[in-house]
Amino acid sequence: FSRSFSQLHSQSKRPSFGIAFDIDGVILLGHTPIGGSPIALKRLYQNSGDLRIPYIFLTNGGGFRESKRASELSELLDVNIQPSQVVQGHSPFKQLVKRYENEFIVAVGKGEPAAVMSEYGFKNVLSIDDYASHFDGIDPLAQHKKWAIKSAANENSSFKKTTSSIYSQRVQAAFVVSDSVDWSRDIQVLCDILRTGGLPGREIGHQPHLYFASDDLEYQASFPSARLGMGAFRIALEAVFNRIHHNPLEYTSFGKPNPLVFHNAETVLKQLVSSLHPNAPAVNQSTPESHQFKTLYMVGDNPSVDIKGARQAGRPWFSILTRTGVFKGKENHAEFPADLVVDTVEEAVDYILEKEC
Ligand code: G3P
Ligand code: MG
Repeated sequence: FSRSFSQLHSQSKRPSFGIAFDIDGVILLGHTPIGGSPIALKRLYQNSGDLRIPYIFLTNGGGFRESKRASELSELLDVNIQPSQVVQGHSPFKQLVKRYENEFIVAVGKGEPAAVMSEYGFKNVLSIDDYASHFDGIDPLAQHKKWAIKSAANENSSFKKTTSSIYSQRVQAAFVVSDSVDWSRDIQVLCDILRTGGLPGREIGHQPHLYFASDDLEYQASFPSARLGMGAFRIALEAVFNRIHHNPLEYTSFGKPNPLVFHNAETVLKQLVSSLHPNAPAVNQSTPESHQFKTLYMVGDNPSVDIKGARQAGRPWFSILTRTGVFKGKENHAEFPADLVVDTVEEAVDYILEKEC
């Protein structure tokens, strides 16, 4: 596939449009493709299987490395997806490597949060599962939790610590990489870290930095009504922390609708175009670096996240709202109206291809 990526269309002209697809509620519900997504995506490839239309996934979800997510999506959707086409809520954490490269940090969430951070270049990271396991009694409810935490403790095998070194090493920052699996344990341990300046069980200290990969209150999974997301977890943590600590919780949230995410998506799409058309002249400009898109389509299901974000980002973004996820209304959304409302992602792709090709 990488061969096709670099050799493809070297003579044809660069496309003047690109597409960013939300995943949950547009492409998948849980692990099930929806809205004709496999058919819709196939239309973006040549018969040979080579990509012809630049597109990325722009999701607030995460928990796995982009390479792993790309192969999982390729399998579920039956098309070849490159890691560079997967932009997750936590992808911007890469930009913080310089600041925390050798600092001790804790990573929270489902999947392999510490492995994600290690891949980004953070050298001194533990998952909150690993971290909490060093403190006897830190979660008094642990004995009542019957579920098994599947080998998460081994996800970050390259970095191991002894209990005594954990006790004395101050946590410099906590990163909520993906949805918390155990809210009660994670709220307890995060409060311990944050109120003590990174040394649970000790005196009150200055709050370490706290980062969230996104701030979605709700998202659509396989259950008929929307599920509580990372934004709901943030509200719960903040409410508790602010009752037990004299200073209010300080944090930074990434993910859509943050305009920086849309700006970064544009950059990623430009790089994709360059790899697809290495020798072709740009449509509006003379050099590949200055390639300008006339239109970038954001296809999403959540008005206050996907549509709000695309609207705030302004040109060249054009928002398309599907009815397969959080939004289920007949008319357009009142507060964050999309440029176009469709039933499914298949309909969205049909519209785009008809307009552009
Ligand atoms: O946990 C995932 C959810 O918050 C949003 O995912 O793909 O709809 O941006 P997505
Ligand atoms: Mg969604």
